[in-house]
Amino acid sequence: MDAVESSSSPYSPPSLRHKLRTTVCGCFGSPSLPGSGAERPHTGSVRAGQVEATRGGHGGVQFQEIKTELNDTPKTEVFACPVCYEPLIRKGPPGMNLPAIYRSGFKCSKCNKSFTSKDVFLDLTVTSGMKEYSELKPARTELFRSPLVSFLYERGWRQNFNRSGFPGRDEEFQMAQDYFKPVAGGILVDVSCGSGLFSRKFASSGAYSAVIALDFSENMLRQCYDYIRQEETPMNTNLALVRADISRLPFASCSIDAIHAGAAIHCWPSPSNAIAEISRVLKPGGVFVATTFLSTPTNSGPFSIDALRPLRQIVGPVNSSYNFFTEGELKDLCISCGLVNYSSKVQRSFIMFSGQKP
Ligand SMILES: C[S@@+](CC[C@H](N)C(=O)[O-])C[C@H]1O[C@@H](n2cnc3c(N)ncnc32)[C@H](O)[C@@H]1O
Repeated sequence: MDAVESSSSPYSPPSLRHKLRTTVCGCFGSPSLPGSGAERPHTGSVRAGQVEATRGGHGGVQFQEIKTELNDTPKTEVFACPVCYEPLIRKGPPGMNLPAIYRSGFKCSKCNKSFTSKDVFLDLTVTSGMKEYSELKPARTELFRSPLVSFLYERGWRQNFNRSGFPGRDEEFQMAQDYFKPVAGGILVDVSCGSGLFSRKFASSGAYSAVIALDFSENMLRQCYDYIRQEETPMNTNLALVRADISRLPFASCSIDAIHAGAAIHCWPSPSNAIAEISRVLKPGGVFVATTFLSTPTNSGPFSIDALRPLRQIVGPVNSSYNFFTEGELKDLCISCGLVNYSSKVQRSFIMFSGQKP
């Protein structure tokens, strides 16, 4: 029994819970959120009168009787099951910050599937916890799972986008903030956040009740965590790190106020499934803002993306690594997925576009 398994114990039957708790007592070297001082608790669903283990003054284990119920009230969460979209039940300290989420266990009452933090992020992929099955995504998704690419991303890779017209992190952040004004104070999800260059800014802006930095890449999320520590962003900032697939967003329908997707749609396996998901989880009035590379005018001519579009189904994507789109295609995607008030800003092959849930 390792400490990670023990953290899902809040959902075990009472007899097993007690067993787990006493088993855990012997392994207090449980993982802690690196550098935060946050250890996984062994509480979760402790009933009055039960015996509970706590760390003693010198790291030893003490037993004490728990007089009151601790965190025993299941709460409905903003997070939902990626299998059935039922809101997850959380056991653990409340709050949308890294230590609270790290210490919590989440469970779908419908599928019975449990989710806990892996390293520094909460894994809400469908494959979370699977032991045998693994799945490979297209190269444009897998590329960013590499430790090297994750490390280099904010150390030069992203800055290269400026050559194509991307205004750069600070200006793109301001532009996005302008679009998000109508939903200030709400929950923002930075999907495909990468190393969290925008998530961290959204979180420290104080403009949102919570910011969820979400990516499929474990290493990007680890990198994001390292930056949070280096920048000494307070650990109790309302910022969560979540691993999830854009095509299967772990949120209930109509639960999110703002979604940002910086430089990501060209990396997604199915942009239409992704935008449909974004549209599903946005609240009425919720705002979606994204940036990407347009298929550029330099592509014009007989071999341009436009010219080859009729052949796409035969020859496959024109650019096999990424999917670049025309503005017409992006607008069509948003409208087809039920978003309204489409607007955009273009600078060379950079585009920031936005749509709203009616
Ligand atoms: C070019 S980076 C963008 C990072 C950041 N948002 C930015 O503005 O620079 C693209 C990100 O999309 C993520 N991504 C690719 N496929 C994904 C998927 N299926 N679900 C979620 N994220 C995905 C990658 O892991 C990567 O971090």
